Amino acid sequence: MKILVTGGAGFIGSHTVIELQNAGHEPVILDNLYNASPKVIGRIEAITGKKVPFYEADIRDREALNRVFDAEKPDAVIHFAGLKAVGESVHKPWEYYDNNITGTLTLLDVMRKHNCRNIIFSSSATVYGDPAFVPITEECPKGTCTNPYGWTKWMLEQILTDMHTADPEWNVILLRYFNPIGAHPSGTMGENPNGIPNNLMPYITQVAVGKLEKLHVFGNDYDTPDGTGVRDYIHVVDLAKGHVCALKKLAPGSGVSIYNLGTGHGYSVLDIVHNFEEATGKKIPYVIDPRRAGDIATCYCSAEKAQKELGWTAQYGIREMCEDSWRWQSMNPNGYDD
Ligand code: NAD
Ligand code: UFG
Repeated sequence: MKILVTGGAGFIGSHTVIELQNAGHEPVILDNLYNASPKVIGRIEAITGKKVPFYEADIRDREALNRVFDAEKPDAVIHFAGLKAVGESVHKPWEYYDNNITGTLTLLDVMRKHNCRNIIFSSSATVYGDPAFVPITEECPKGTCTNPYGWTKWMLEQILTDMHTADPEWNVILLRYFNPIGAHPSGTMGENPNGIPNNLMPYITQVAVGKLEKLHVFGNDYDTPDGTGVRDYIHVVDLAKGHVCALKKLAPGSGVSIYNLGTGHGYSVLDIVHNFEEATGKKIPYVIDPRRAGDIATCYCSAEKAQKELGWTAQYGIREMCEDSWRWQSMNPNGYDD
């Protein structure tokens, strides 16, 4: 299938493009490079040995989208493009709603005008809010988000569902990612955060490489085995493969489907520190700080539905996630900026 991958130069998108090419699909990347480097395209091609068409364009630019759809005539869209920094979204709500919501509305309009009604959307475990129960199944009610970023995912899930209700020709898959970490095992592609990382694993790898002094653990008084927050970390390559499996489900009449993509295992912040130290031999100094506003104690999924219906299960364990994150960081201390 010819797949338009919006945000395909970003962390998860670029790994997904590799898996799409490996599976014989024809991905086409559209990205405005707001949070990505153009060097990613060459790295993808070096890994797969295949060319990938790349359009530098914004999903809010209707004319640019029209040109890409006219030229490429994609069968489906995998929609990663969006802003994703939780803290920043609190200070820049308009920018987040404009980019994520206006951008997606423009994309959906161009899609239907080009008769393409197949979409896989990058959603997030954040839509569960403080989850009603764990392990979180897809039936767990959506919760209250604590920031505009989370609300954009929550609302876009609703918008996509309403599009299908009004026009059943739409086939929609909402993938709720848990916590993606790791990097391509080649060490040539990975996460490339701007400035000081917000997320745990990039912060740890920057401590390990000497760019940051120590990890700040946000709270050790949660109701968890060691008091630190528990999350469901998933290797980005497993997550990428989940999209390839989901594509098979995007058949006419398939409607709206929702899948959690996680491993089903919860690890605390200190579990991650210890696993990282063991896998890499690098010591991670840390201090305990107060809780971070908006954080929850525990979040991990039941991945059974994706296993049953998509035939997908995560293959990589926590050791490989740590090793691959570290290989990427140590081979590319400045990310793609070297
Ligand atoms: P990323 O920032 O690396 O990738 C997003 C890409 O979209 C970037 O390359 C950016 O340049 C591009 N982009 C942003 N706005 C755009 C626009 N208006 N037009 C065109 N391109 C645009 O982030 P990621 O971690 O790869 O996340 C991909 C998707 O998955 C996002 O929608 C994110 O919200 C979602 N998600 C990520 C996580 C996570 O922890 N990384 C968890 C849950 C969901
Ligand atoms: N943490 C620290 N120190 C840090 C960073 C994080 O102790 O410097 C802790 C957090 O308190 C939390 C855990 O590490 O307990 C994971 O935090 P992350 O920031 O890495 O990830 P979150 O679970 O907060 O959120 C991430 C993405 C969201 C996405 C969510 C899905 O940032 O966009 O996963 O589960 F929605």
